[in-house]
Amino acid sequence: MAVIPVAIAGAPYEVRIEAGLLSNAGEHCRPFLRKDRVAIVTDANVAAHWQETVTASFASAGVQSEWLVLPAGESTKSWEHLARVVDWLLLQEVERKDNIVAFGGGVIGDLTGFAASMVKRGCGFIQIPTTLLAQVDSSVGGKTAINTPAGKNLVGAFHQPSLVLADPSALDTLPLRDTRAGYAEVIKYGLIDDAPFFEWCEANGAKLLAGDSSARAAAIAQSVSAKARIVAADEKETAGVRALLNLGHTFGHALEAETGFSDRLLHGEGVALGMVLAARFSARLGLMSGQDAQRIVAHMEAVGLPASLRSLGLECSGRRLADHMLHDKKMDAGTLPFLLMRGIGKTFLAKDVDLDEVASFLDKELRG
Ligand code: GLY
Repeated sequence: MAVIPVAIAGAPYEVRIEAGLLSNAGEHCRPFLRKDRVAIVTDANVAAHWQETVTASFASAGVQSEWLVLPAGESTKSWEHLARVVDWLLLQEVERKDNIVAFGGGVIGDLTGFAASMVKRGCGFIQIPTTLLAQVDSSVGGKTAINTPAGKNLVGAFHQPSLVLADPSALDTLPLRDTRAGYAEVIKYGLIDDAPFFEWCEANGAKLLAGDSSARAAAIAQSVSAKARIVAADEKETAGVRALLNLGHTFGHALEAETGFSDRLLHGEGVALGMVLAARFSARLGLMSGQDAQRIVAHMEAVGLPASLRSLGLECSGRRLADHMLHDKKMDAGTLPFLLMRGIGKTFLAKDVDLDEVASFLDKELRG
């Protein structure tokens, strides 16, 4: 089992990674529980595959599990479901020192973590992420949120989990498209500051997506180590370090907004294309070599992630995409910090990017 410490000052915790961990979830969680009952929030898809296994695992650790099973899908990250989770946790008589369990993908983790941040002014929670995106990104670092009519993740809290359990075999029951989209966040860690890991992705990405469990476990461990290092240095994204994790997200967010945050472009697919655009824009500005940018495009293509804006078939202008960026939650006093690259593994935060230049770059990319 890989155990990665997340050294957040005042709230350290571990991420444990191992295939088959779901069958031992009860044993791992037991030391974090003060009672012989635990409240678990999940969604209907995860429950259909895993509720029996996880219930049995808690039972064999002497813990009775109480389940709240929510509808699967992004629309569950809402005020309505937040109220439902909070009311249910209160009904379960959860106390501040208790740990509840968020068992699912990013939607369940973000929603349940946010509910935990407010129940009794903040109770504990354990993340058991079941998608690649949640295992390598959203379950670690304590960002919790819901979506509102004003936008995605605009309401939330930093609230660190007490423990994260990532079981790569949970990915076996998911559509390949979801795992591939989550893999974009794996590539991201290589592009941020770890060129050898990007090389590892080039050599092992296809194998990972084909289901190789040791490649999956290795990618999760490497990604979590990178994320742990970054969030420990800048928990609340105030020091310009955690912001590196937004590589590809500004372009990606504009594309997600233009496609209506729909299945037409999953979040991870938007991030993949966003990283391609960040690379190509960096090359256009003379910051990065065209060869490095092309290497990124080639890897996205090799694993079946979107690698060209033209192929998305959008009927809009570059200006319209740039305008979506003005609603990005990273806007800071009228300027939008951009993550650009000086090479593979050399991402930096640029604060002086001209949105007119971004719009004209995007116009070119839309035409191919
Ligand atoms: N997913 C970006 C972050 O956790 O900061």
